[in-house]
Amino acid sequence: MHRYPDSPVFYRSLVREYPRAVRGRGCWIEDDTGQRYLDAVGGAFVASIGHGVTEIGEAMARQAGRLAYVNGTAFTHDAVEELAGRLVRLTPGMDRAYILGSGSEAVEAALKLARQHWVERGRPGKHRVIALEPSYHGNTLLALSASARPHYRAYWPEWLADITRIPAPYAYRCACRGDAGCPACTGDALEDAIRREGAERIAAFIMEPVGGSSTGASIPRDGYLQRIRELCDHYDVLFIADEVLCGAGRTGTWVATQAEGVVPDITTLGKGIAGGYAPVSAVLARDAVIEPIARGSGALLHAQTFSHHAVTCAAAVATIDYIEHHRLVSRCQAMGGVLHQRLDRLRSLPGVGDVRGRGLLAGVEFVADAGTRATFPRRARVAERFTRNAQDEGLIVWPNTGHADGEHGDLVMLAPPYIIEEREIDEIVARFSRALGRTMAEAAATA
Ligand SMILES: Cc1ncc(COP(=O)(O)O)c(C=O)c1O
Repeated sequence: MHRYPDSPVFYRSLVREYPRAVRGRGCWIEDDTGQRYLDAVGGAFVASIGHGVTEIGEAMARQAGRLAYVNGTAFTHDAVEELAGRLVRLTPGMDRAYILGSGSEAVEAALKLARQHWVERGRPGKHRVIALEPSYHGNTLLALSASARPHYRAYWPEWLADITRIPAPYAYRCACRGDAGCPACTGDALEDAIRREGAERIAAFIMEPVGGSSTGASIPRDGYLQRIRELCDHYDVLFIADEVLCGAGRTGTWVATQAEGVVPDITTLGKGIAGGYAPVSAVLARDAVIEPIARGSGALLHAQTFSHHAVTCAAAVATIDYIEHHRLVSRCQAMGGVLHQRLDRLRSLPGVGDVRGRGLLAGVEFVADAGTRATFPRRARVAERFTRNAQDEGLIVWPNTGHADGEHGDLVMLAPPYIIEEREIDEIVARFSRALGRTMAEAAATA
C-alpha cells in the first residue's frame, strides 16, 4: 500500500492508502499483490473498450515514430484530420471538431466559443450562461462555475463566474417525481430563466443530455430535449450538450442527444473517445456557430499548446476504429439491457432508493428510507464507505454526494467497459450486494 507522505506523489487523497495497479485486461485491473478488481466504472467512465488493447498503443507508437507533435498554428496532420472526420461523421449535425485533452478543457472551450460567437455576430451583450442544478461540467474555473456542486467550489467562490441556474430534470429528487410535468422536468424552467434574465443577455445553455455523476444517470423525461431545442431556437441561445461522460456510445447511441433526435449547437466529448489510452476531448460545433468567427477575427481565442495533438488523436482514431469494428455502440444497448435487468435485483436491498440509467451507464441512489426518499446523515458517509467496501470486495465504482440538497445524498455510478460479459455483470451485482451489506451495517453503527 502507498500513502502520503511516504511517496513523492501528490496523491488525489492525502488521507488514504492506495494499492499499486500494475496491469489491466478487459474489465479487470490487477495490483502488485495479485488482487484483481472488476472495473465497473471504467476508472471514471473512461475505459470504454476495456484495458490492455495492445493495438491502441501500437497505433500511438506508429504515430509518435512518424510525427509526434506539430503546433496547430503552423500545421495540420493526418491524425487530426482523420479524428475530426470520424467525430463529425458519427455525431449528427456537427460540422467541425476542435481537439483538446480533458473534458474540463472542452467545456471551457465550448463556453468561450459560444460567447465569442455572439461577440463576433455583433451581440456582445449575450454573455450569460444557464446551467442545471445539480450538474457537473469540470474543474477548471469556468467549467467549475457552470457546475452546481457546492463542495467542489468551497475554496474559490470569489474566482468563479456568475452562472444562472435552473433545476435539473431529476425526477427522483423532484417534488413532482417526474410525473406532474413541473417546470424543471418539462424544460419550462429554461424559458422562465431566459425571460427573467432577458434573452439578449443569454449566450448559452449547457446540460448533460443524460445525467452524469451529479444526478446518477437520471434520464430527462420524453420531450425534454426537444423542448430545450425549441426554446434555444426561439430565444437565440446556443445549446451546448456536454457529452463528456455520457457520449462515445455508452448510452447505446454514439451521442445521447441522438436517441431523442435532437441536434445541439455545440457538443463536448471526452473520456471514452480514446478509452483511457490517451487524454483526448473534443468540442464539436455546427458551421453556423463557427462561421461568424471565420468571417470575423478568424480564430477561436483558445490557444493551447497540446490541442490537436498527433499521438493522442491517433489513440482516439484507433479507439473509435475498435468501437466500430466490434460494433460496441449497439453492444452498449444490448448489454445495457442485461445490466439494468440484473441491477433491478438491488432495488429490494436495504438502503437502495433507486436504480436508473441507460445503456451501460447506471446510477444507484442510496436512501435511509425508500418510501420518503430521506437521505442518510452526511456524517455516515455512505457513498464513500460503500466505495471503499466495494474496492475491498474487488469492485470499482464511482461515488457522488450532495445531489439531494447540495450537502446530502449518496449514490454510486456504474459504467463498465463496453466489452463486458454477462457473467461479469452478475459478478458486479454479487460484489455490490456484499459491499452494500457491510456499508449498511457500518452506517447503522454510526447512527
Ligand atoms: C459531464 C462532464 N463534463 C466535463 C467533465 C470534466 O472532464 P475532465 O475530468 O476530463 O476534465 C466531466 C468529468 O467527470 C463530466 O462528467
